[in-house]
This record gives sequence, C-alpha cells and structure tokens, in this order.
Amino acid sequence: MKDFTYYAPTEVVFGRDSEAKVAQMIRKYGGTKVLVHFGGKSAIQSGLLPKICDQLSQAGIPYVALGGVVPNPRLSMVHKGIELCKKEGVDFLLAVGGGSVIDSCKAIAYGVPYKGEVWDLYLGKGKPKTMLPLGCVLTIPAAGSEMSESSVITNEDGGIKLGYSNNLSRPKFAIMNPERTFTLPPYQTAAGVTDMMMHTMERYFTKDDDMNVTTALAESLLREMKQAIFPVLKDPEDYRYRAQIMWAGSLMHNGLTGCGISDDWATHQLEHELSGMFDVTHGAGLAAVWPSWARYVMHKNLRRFVRFAVEVMDVPNDYTDPEGTAEKGIQAMERFYHAIGMPINIKELIGRDIKDGEIKEMVQKCSRGGTRTCGQLKVLKAEDMEAIYQMARG
Ligand code: NZQ
Ligand code: ZN
Repeated sequence: MKDFTYYAPTEVVFGRDSEAKVAQMIRKYGGTKVLVHFGGKSAIQSGLLPKICDQLSQAGIPYVALGGVVPNPRLSMVHKGIELCKKEGVDFLLAVGGGSVIDSCKAIAYGVPYKGEVWDLYLGKGKPKTMLPLGCVLTIPAAGSEMSESSVITNEDGGIKLGYSNNLSRPKFAIMNPERTFTLPPYQTAAGVTDMMMHTMERYFTKDDDMNVTTALAESLLREMKQAIFPVLKDPEDYRYRAQIMWAGSLMHNGLTGCGISDDWATHQLEHELSGMFDVTHGAGLAAVWPSWARYVMHKNLRRFVRFAVEVMDVPNDYTDPEGTAEKGIQAMERFYHAIGMPINIKELIGRDIKDGEIKEMVQKCSRGGTRTCGQLKVLKAEDMEAIYQMARG
C-alpha cells in the first residue's frame, strides 16, 4: 500500500436551486471583481447564465463576462481571458459550464499573476507561486475538474493537448444542481459517464492491489454508474439518477479512488492525442482506446482484470481460465459502451479508417519524440503506444 495525502478542499454546494448561492460563495472566498467564463450556447439558452449575472448585479458584485470556450479548450481563449482579467482588475473567476470552461478558467487564473507565458506550465517549464481563486457552477458531470487539481488545454498551433496539475487550482467551491444537467444530449451524457468511470479505472488498474477500502469504493462507484446511465438516457429529467451521476463525477476524480495505490493514466494520455488531432469528445475517445489498452496490458496484473470482470462487469468467474474471465470483462465493457452509444475503436470514433501517418504523428506527440513513457501498470514506450493505436484502429 502506498502512503498518501488526500486533499480535497473544494466546498460543494449540491442540490436544487444551489446556484442561488453563487454570490454568497464568491464573497465568502474574497471575490470583489469577477470574470464569468462560459462556453457556447447551453448556459444562455437554459437561462442559467442570465440568472447568475442578475444575481451578481443584485449583490453588487461587479463582473465581466467572457464566453466562447469550446470543448478541448483553446490556448488562444486563455490568452484572451488573461488580458481581460488584467485590464479589468479581476480577482476571482467563475466558471459556468463543464470541464472545458473550468479548465480554461484554471489556465487564465494561473496566467494572470504569472510572469511568463502560461503555456510553459503545460510544457513543464515553469511553476506558479500563486494563482487567482476560482469557483464553478457545473453543468455537465464528466471531467471532474470541479474538484480536481488538473486542467487540460489545447494549443491550436500544432493541435497539442497538454494537462497540468497543481493543488493550487482546485476550485474554492463547486455548485452542483442536477437539474442543470437535464438539457444534456444523450451523447454528452454518455461520454461524461465514460470519462468519469475512466478516472476511477485509471486508478483501479494498478500494481498495488492491497488497499481494499479504495478498491471497494471504486467498484461500487463503477457499478452504480453502469446502472445510473440508463434511466437518464431514457428520461433526461430523472433527477434522482442525474444526481447520482453528478456526485459520482466529482468523487471519481477528486483523489478519493486513488488513495493508497499508484495510478496509470495511459488511456488518458493516448486519448489526448486523439482529441488534440481530431477534436473528438474526450469521453468517446477514451472508450475507443480502453479495450485495446486493456488487452495489451492485462497480463501485468491479471488478477485485477479478473476482479474487475467479476465485481464490476458481472462476469461469472471461471477459476480454470483467468485470462478468459478477464477477456470477458473487457468484452462486457465493450457491450456497455455500445449500449450507451460510445465507440469501441478509432474507426467508430472518427467515422473513417485512421491513416498510418496519423498514428505515427500521435505516437510522436504522445511520446514527446520518444522521450516520454506513459502508464504505470505497464510502462508504455513509443512502440507500445503504436501497437495499442494499431489494435484500436478498428
Ligand atoms: O459550450 P456549450 O454550449 O455549453 O456546450 C457544451 C459542450 O458542447 C455542452 N454542455 C455542457 N453543459 C451542458 C451542455 N449542453 C447542454 N446542457 C448542458 N447542461 O457539452 C459539451 C461538452 O462540454 P465540455 O465542458 O467540453 O465537457 P467535459 O466536462 O467533458 O470537459 C471535457 C474537457 O475536460 C478535459 C478533457 O480533456 C476535455 O478537454 N478533462 C479535464 C480534466 C480535469 N481538469 O481534471 C480531466 C479529464 O480527464 C479531462 O481530460
Ligand atoms: Zn478524463
């Protein structure tokens, strides 16, 4: 078992009409001039954004608004936000949206006090001493950024998507009203659940399998999400199951399901090249890669893959054939992905055959020209990454 620090400082305000507390929360965490950051149309159309802006005006909290964050949020928007915050004297950022908006907010919040170029942090070339505080009103349970220490930004120059993690960036508060997720289309709902499950699976498939409490938490969250998705695909306004999914999304990525074990993250790193190159939805990209990754690495801890098959995917345990049981678990996951409208390979993800040259480019980027490995369960070198992308091409 690994020693660990569990740090999850974000204040969560959960439930119907919880967004009515936004002004109160901003004051609590010292905001006096706010950047309200949001995405495309969803937060305007649902009336959430106007409601929040009215509330800030009524509370006498000055704000500037900056919309237009796209999925796989762009560095150019981050630069725009930094400039605006400096010009307007912003001292608090409010993200109204999902992972992309929150991540864009985190990058802006680093960039305002940072002396150099903010992209250097994502390149691993700098470390911030401080950043502006931020809070969020979550509208899609998926990325888990509302409680996580990470943010992921895409530099349009070269389609390079990089993450940066620092505990400074954990939001001060996260406001979560499950009703705000009623408008999510089925594809985004399913991709969100796929992503949150993967945040826990990246931690579950580990060499250190002697932390039973963490394992039990992970398995029950995974089982619950496997069930909860179907009622909301049938009835998008099913509050009870929207609420399970929203809360699970935070718990599955705030560090709880990683306590005492080493995490892997290879599927995420392989996926980031797919969404960097093809601008696909992150959760769908994960579903396209995971089955191939799992088959490639399962012998590194077969017992764990058998346990996953039995405890999470309800596969009967064939004690005479652990490999067969593990494989049935992966197949059951593929059937689950298909049942919720997710792809299980790259062809299904991008709608055409991927070219060998595109795979080579992704390997080059993912391995940083052969200088970086990824994963823990099996440490993947460039040739392993290429083998997995080839297996996943479909
Ligand atoms: O832009 P709008 O119109 O708001 O539409 C969004 C967007 O098109 C829509 N949407 C959001 N809430 C909605 C809604 N549509 C209807 N009703 C609502 N209530 O959903 C689309 C996707 O939004 P996005 O914010 O991109 O989704 P998600 O939360 O999945 O974030 C994905 C990003 O997070 C990164 C991913 O790589 C990707 O860039 N990740 C961030 C992590 C972190 N910071 O810890 C970890 C993750 O592994 C992930 O890598
Ligand atoms: Zn993710």
